Amino acid sequence: MKPRPSRIVLAPMRPGDLSMDAQSHKAQMHDAEILDQFTRQAEPFARRHAHSNDELLQQMVDCAAVGPDDRVLDVACGPGVVSCFFAKRVRHVTGLDLVPAMLEKARTFQAEQNLANVTWKLGSCTDLPFAGETFDCVVTRFSFHHFLDPGIALREMKRVAKPGGTILVCDVAPDEETQESFNRWELLRDPSHTRALTGQELEELGRAAGLELPRRSHCSLASDLENLLAGSFPKPGYAEKIRALFDEETQAGTNRLGVAARRTEGRILIAYPMVLLAWRKPKPGN
Ligand SMILES: C[S@@+](CC[C@H](N)C(=O)[O-])C[C@H]1O[C@@H](n2cnc3c(N)ncnc32)[C@H](O)[C@@H]1O
Repeated sequence: MKPRPSRIVLAPMRPGDLSMDAQSHKAQMHDAEILDQFTRQAEPFARRHAHSNDELLQQMVDCAAVGPDDRVLDVACGPGVVSCFFAKRVRHVTGLDLVPAMLEKARTFQAEQNLANVTWKLGSCTDLPFAGETFDCVVTRFSFHHFLDPGIALREMKRVAKPGGTILVCDVAPDEETQESFNRWELLRDPSHTRALTGQELEELGRAAGLELPRRSHCSLASDLENLLAGSFPKPGYAEKIRALFDEETQAGTNRLGVAARRTEGRILIAYPMVLLAWRKPKPGN
Protein backbone atom coordinates (compact mmCIF):
# COMPACT_ATOMS: atom_id res chain seq x y z
CA MET A 1 0.00 0.00 0.00
CA LYS A 2 1.28 3.45 -0.86
CA PRO A 3 1.99 5.51 2.27
CA ARG A 4 -0.45 8.34 2.63
CA PRO A 5 1.08 11.76 2.72
CA SER A 6 0.83 13.16 6.23
CA ARG A 7 -1.47 16.11 6.63
CA ILE A 8 0.25 19.28 7.61
CA VAL A 9 -2.05 21.75 9.29
CA LEU A 10 -0.84 25.30 8.98
CA ALA A 11 -1.86 27.49 11.90
CA PRO A 12 -2.81 30.98 10.79
CA MET A 13 0.04 33.47 11.21
CA ARG A 14 -0.51 36.25 13.71
CA PRO A 15 1.14 39.64 13.44
CA GLY A 16 4.50 39.55 15.21
CA ASP A 17 4.98 35.73 14.88
CA LEU A 18 7.73 36.07 12.32
CA SER A 19 9.61 38.76 14.16
CA MET A 20 9.49 36.71 17.41
CA ASP A 21 10.89 33.73 15.50
CA ALA A 22 13.55 35.89 13.89
CA GLN A 23 14.52 37.36 17.26
CA SER A 24 14.79 34.03 19.04
CA HIS A 25 16.74 32.62 16.09
CA LYS A 26 19.15 35.56 16.32
CA ALA A 27 19.51 35.02 20.08
CA GLN A 28 20.20 31.30 19.59
CA MET A 29 22.80 32.00 16.90
CA HIS A 30 24.49 34.55 19.16
CA ASP A 31 24.57 32.17 22.16
CA ALA A 32 26.14 29.54 19.86
CA GLU A 33 28.81 32.09 18.83
CA ILE A 34 29.49 32.93 22.52
CA LEU A 35 29.76 29.24 23.34
CA ASP A 36 32.18 28.61 20.49
CA GLN A 37 34.36 31.68 21.09
CA PHE A 38 34.59 31.44 24.87
CA THR A 39 35.16 27.69 24.89
CA ARG A 40 38.21 28.42 22.73
CA GLN A 41 39.17 31.60 24.60
CA ALA A 42 38.81 30.06 28.09
CA GLU A 43 42.46 28.95 28.34
CA PRO A 44 44.21 32.05 26.89
CA PHE A 45 41.75 34.44 28.58
CA ALA A 46 42.29 32.84 32.00
CA ARG A 47 46.09 32.90 31.49
CA ARG A 48 46.06 36.58 30.44
CA HIS A 49 43.78 37.84 33.20
CA ALA A 50 44.29 35.55 36.22
CA HIS A 51 47.20 37.53 37.67
CA SER A 52 46.87 40.94 36.12
CA ASN A 53 44.81 44.12 36.37
CA ASP A 54 44.70 44.18 40.19
CA GLU A 55 44.35 47.95 39.99
CA LEU A 56 41.17 47.64 37.93
CA LEU A 57 39.81 44.94 40.26
CA GLN A 58 40.48 47.16 43.29
CA GLN A 59 38.79 50.04 41.48
CA MET A 60 35.73 47.79 40.99
CA VAL A 61 35.67 46.87 44.70
CA ASP A 62 35.95 50.55 45.67
CA CYS A 63 33.27 51.60 43.21
CA ALA A 64 30.92 48.80 44.38
CA ALA A 65 31.65 49.82 48.01
CA VAL A 66 31.09 46.23 49.23
CA GLY A 67 31.39 45.17 52.86
CA PRO A 68 32.35 41.89 54.64
CA ASP A 69 28.71 40.78 55.09
CA ASP A 70 27.71 41.21 51.45
CA ARG A 71 26.51 38.53 49.06
CA VAL A 72 27.69 39.26 45.53
CA LEU A 73 26.69 37.96 42.10
CA ASP A 74 29.27 38.16 39.28
CA VAL A 75 27.39 37.95 35.94
CA ALA A 76 29.32 36.54 32.94
CA CYS A 77 32.11 35.64 35.38
CA GLY A 78 34.32 33.89 32.81
CA PRO A 79 37.34 32.27 34.55
CA GLY A 80 36.34 33.72 37.92
CA VAL A 81 38.96 36.46 38.29
CA VAL A 82 36.48 39.12 39.44
CA SER A 83 34.53 36.62 41.60
CA CYS A 84 37.65 35.46 43.47
CA PHE A 85 38.93 39.02 43.99
CA PHE A 86 35.58 40.02 45.53
CA ALA A 87 35.35 36.76 47.54
CA LYS A 88 38.36 37.82 49.64
CA ARG A 89 36.43 40.94 50.70
CA VAL A 90 32.80 39.79 51.10
CA ARG A 91 30.75 36.96 52.69
CA HIS A 92 29.91 35.02 49.53
CA VAL A 93 30.17 35.29 45.72
CA THR A 94 28.17 33.46 43.06
CA GLY A 95 29.73 33.46 39.59
CA LEU A 96 27.43 32.84 36.61
CA ASP A 97 28.42 32.19 33.01
CA LEU A 98 26.96 30.73 29.83
CA VAL A 99 30.05 28.69 28.96
CA PRO A 100 30.97 25.47 30.84
CA ALA A 101 34.66 25.70 29.82
CA MET A 102 34.87 29.10 31.52
CA LEU A 103 33.32 27.74 34.72
CA GLU A 104 35.86 24.88 34.66
CA LYS A 105 38.65 27.50 34.63
CA ALA A 106 36.86 29.38 37.42
CA ARG A 107 36.77 26.24 39.63
CA THR A 108 40.50 25.69 39.10
CA PHE A 109 41.26 29.33 39.92
CA GLN A 110 39.10 29.15 43.07
CA ALA A 111 40.98 26.02 44.23
CA GLU A 112 44.35 27.72 43.61
CA GLN A 113 43.20 30.65 45.74
CA ASN A 114 41.87 28.36 48.51
CA LEU A 115 38.49 30.07 48.59
CA ALA A 116 35.49 28.29 50.12
CA ASN A 117 32.95 31.11 49.78
CA VAL A 118 32.34 30.97 46.00
CA THR A 119 29.80 28.94 44.02
CA TRP A 120 29.45 28.68 40.25
CA LYS A 121 26.30 28.55 38.18
CA LEU A 122 25.69 27.88 34.50
CA GLY A 123 23.13 30.28 33.04
CA SER A 124 22.35 33.31 30.94
CA CYS A 125 22.32 36.99 31.83
CA THR A 126 18.95 37.30 30.08
CA ASP A 127 17.22 35.01 32.58
CA LEU A 128 19.19 34.90 35.84
CA PRO A 129 18.32 31.69 37.75
CA PHE A 130 17.86 33.47 41.10
CA ALA A 131 14.92 34.81 43.07
CA GLY A 132 14.39 38.57 43.14
CA GLU A 133 16.16 40.63 45.83
CA THR A 134 18.83 37.98 46.57
CA PHE A 135 22.14 39.87 46.35
CA ASP A 136 23.61 42.95 48.07
CA CYS A 137 25.72 43.64 45.00
CA VAL A 138 25.61 42.46 41.37
CA VAL A 139 28.70 43.06 39.23
CA THR A 140 29.87 42.35 35.70
CA ARG A 141 33.10 43.09 33.83
CA PHE A 142 34.02 43.01 30.10
CA SER A 143 30.62 41.55 29.24
CA PHE A 144 28.07 44.15 28.07
CA HIS A 145 29.78 44.43 24.66
CA HIS A 146 29.01 40.72 24.12
CA PHE A 147 25.30 41.01 24.90
CA LEU A 148 22.64 41.29 22.19
CA ASP A 149 20.45 43.35 24.54
CA PRO A 150 22.39 44.85 27.48
CA GLY A 151 19.16 46.52 28.66
CA ILE A 152 17.64 43.10 29.43
CA ALA A 153 20.79 42.06 31.30
CA LEU A 154 20.75 45.26 33.37
CA ARG A 155 17.07 44.81 34.27
CA GLU A 156 17.80 41.21 35.34
CA MET A 157 20.73 42.43 37.46
CA LYS A 158 18.39 44.96 39.05
CA ARG A 159 15.71 42.31 39.70
CA VAL A 160 18.06 40.03 41.68
CA ALA A 161 19.63 42.91 43.66
CA LYS A 162 18.16 43.81 47.06
CA PRO A 163 16.51 47.22 47.39
CA GLY A 164 19.33 49.64 48.21
CA GLY A 165 21.81 47.17 46.68
CA THR A 166 24.50 48.01 44.12
CA ILE A 167 24.74 47.10 40.45
CA LEU A 168 28.20 47.61 38.99
CA VAL A 169 29.03 47.47 35.28
CA CYS A 170 32.65 47.73 34.18
CA ASP A 171 33.13 47.70 30.43
CA VAL A 172 35.02 49.19 27.53
CA ALA A 173 33.37 52.47 26.51
CA PRO A 174 34.69 54.19 23.38
CA ASP A 175 33.86 57.84 22.82
CA GLU A 176 31.22 58.84 20.29
CA GLU A 177 33.72 59.78 17.57
CA THR A 178 35.54 56.43 17.55
CA GLN A 179 32.67 54.13 18.57
CA GLU A 180 31.81 52.92 15.08
CA SER A 181 35.35 52.10 13.97
CA PHE A 182 36.13 50.60 17.40
CA ASN A 183 33.17 48.23 17.08
CA ARG A 184 34.16 47.34 13.51
CA TRP A 185 37.70 46.16 14.33
CA GLU A 186 36.63 44.48 17.59
CA LEU A 187 34.03 42.48 15.66
CA LEU A 188 36.77 41.41 13.24
CA ARG A 189 38.89 40.26 16.19
CA ASP A 190 36.07 38.53 18.09
CA PRO A 191 32.89 37.45 16.24
CA SER A 192 31.02 37.30 19.57
CA HIS A 193 31.41 41.06 20.00
CA THR A 194 28.11 42.92 19.56
CA ARG A 195 28.54 46.63 20.30
CA ALA A 196 30.51 48.57 22.88
CA LEU A 197 28.36 51.41 24.23
CA THR A 198 29.66 54.88 25.07
CA GLY A 199 29.65 55.94 28.72
CA GLN A 200 26.62 58.10 28.01
CA GLU A 201 24.69 55.23 26.42
CA LEU A 202 25.46 53.03 29.45
CA GLU A 203 24.27 55.76 31.80
CA GLU A 204 21.08 56.05 29.73
CA LEU A 205 20.48 52.29 30.10
CA GLY A 206 20.64 52.73 33.88
CA ARG A 207 18.20 55.65 33.79
CA ALA A 208 15.80 53.60 31.63
CA ALA A 209 16.03 50.73 34.14
CA GLY A 210 15.09 53.10 36.98
CA LEU A 211 18.48 53.01 38.71
CA GLU A 212 20.29 55.79 40.61
CA LEU A 213 23.94 56.46 39.82
CA PRO A 214 25.89 57.43 42.94
CA ARG A 215 29.40 56.55 41.68
CA ARG A 216 31.23 56.34 38.37
CA SER A 217 34.87 56.20 37.39
CA HIS A 218 37.11 55.73 34.36
CA CYS A 219 40.44 54.17 33.60
CA SER A 220 42.29 52.65 30.68
CA LEU A 221 43.39 49.08 30.25
CA ALA A 222 46.75 48.56 28.55
CA SER A 223 47.28 45.71 26.12
CA ASP A 224 49.63 44.56 23.40
CA LEU A 225 48.00 43.94 20.03
CA GLU A 226 49.92 40.71 19.31
CA ASN A 227 49.17 39.28 22.80
CA LEU A 228 45.54 40.12 22.28
CA LEU A 229 45.45 38.46 18.85
CA ALA A 230 47.24 35.38 20.22
CA GLY A 231 44.26 34.76 22.53
CA SER A 232 41.60 35.56 19.91
CA PHE A 233 39.98 33.39 17.26
CA PRO A 234 39.08 35.67 14.35
CA LYS A 235 37.87 34.32 11.00
CA PRO A 236 40.66 33.44 8.50
CA GLY A 237 42.37 36.56 7.15
CA TYR A 238 40.90 38.93 9.74
CA ALA A 239 44.00 39.10 11.98
CA GLU A 240 45.93 40.45 8.96
CA LYS A 241 43.19 43.01 8.33
CA ILE A 242 43.43 44.17 11.96
CA ARG A 243 47.24 44.45 11.77
CA ALA A 244 46.88 46.53 8.58
CA LEU A 245 44.39 48.87 10.30
CA PHE A 246 46.77 49.38 13.23
CA ASP A 247 49.78 49.88 10.93
CA GLU A 248 47.85 52.62 9.17
CA GLU A 249 46.73 54.12 12.49
CA THR A 250 50.19 54.24 14.07
CA GLN A 251 51.81 55.57 10.88
CA ALA A 252 49.23 58.33 10.58
CA GLY A 253 49.36 59.06 14.34
CA THR A 254 45.56 59.12 14.52
CA ASN A 255 43.17 57.65 17.10
CA ARG A 256 40.38 56.50 14.79
CA LEU A 257 40.33 52.98 16.25
CA GLY A 258 39.62 54.36 19.72
CA VAL A 259 42.40 52.68 21.73
CA ALA A 260 45.24 55.26 21.53
CA ALA A 261 47.44 52.82 19.58
CA ARG A 262 51.18 53.52 19.47
CA ARG A 263 54.18 51.62 18.17
CA THR A 264 57.09 51.05 20.57
CA GLU A 265 60.12 48.90 19.76
CA GLY A 266 58.21 47.04 17.06
CA ARG A 267 55.16 46.35 19.29
CA ILE A 268 51.77 47.96 18.99
CA LEU A 269 50.47 49.01 22.39
CA ILE A 270 46.84 49.87 22.91
CA ALA A 271 44.75 51.20 25.80
CA TYR A 272 41.07 50.30 26.10
CA PRO A 273 38.98 53.16 27.54
CA MET A 274 37.02 51.70 30.47
CA VAL A 275 34.08 52.97 32.44
CA LEU A 276 32.80 51.78 35.82
CA LEU A 277 29.22 52.65 36.73
CA ALA A 278 27.87 51.80 40.19
CA TRP A 279 24.08 52.14 40.32
CA ARG A 280 21.83 51.82 43.34
CA LYS A 281 18.51 49.96 43.22
CA PRO A 282 16.05 52.36 44.85
CA LYS A 283 14.28 51.27 48.01
CA PRO A 284 10.46 51.21 47.78
CA GLY A 285 9.03 54.64 48.51
CA ASN A 286 12.26 56.46 47.51
C1 LIG B 1 35.42 38.77 28.01
S1 LIG B 1 34.78 37.54 29.07
C2 LIG B 1 34.81 38.36 30.66
C3 LIG B 1 34.94 37.39 31.81
C4 LIG B 1 34.94 38.02 33.20
N1 LIG B 1 33.76 38.83 33.43
C5 LIG B 1 36.18 38.85 33.43
O1 LIG B 1 36.08 40.06 33.46
O2 LIG B 1 37.26 38.26 33.61
C6 LIG B 1 33.05 37.58 28.67
C7 LIG B 1 32.27 36.47 29.35
O3 LIG B 1 30.87 36.71 29.12
C8 LIG B 1 30.23 35.44 29.04
N2 LIG B 1 28.92 35.63 28.42
C9 LIG B 1 28.64 36.12 27.18
N3 LIG B 1 27.33 36.15 26.96
C10 LIG B 1 26.74 35.69 28.09
C11 LIG B 1 25.38 35.51 28.48
N4 LIG B 1 24.36 35.75 27.65
N5 LIG B 1 25.12 35.05 29.74
C12 LIG B 1 26.13 34.76 30.58
N6 LIG B 1 27.45 34.88 30.26
C13 LIG B 1 27.74 35.36 29.03
C14 LIG B 1 31.22 34.63 28.20
O4 LIG B 1 31.00 33.26 28.29
C15 LIG B 1 32.55 35.09 28.82
O5 LIG B 1 32.94 34.23 29.86
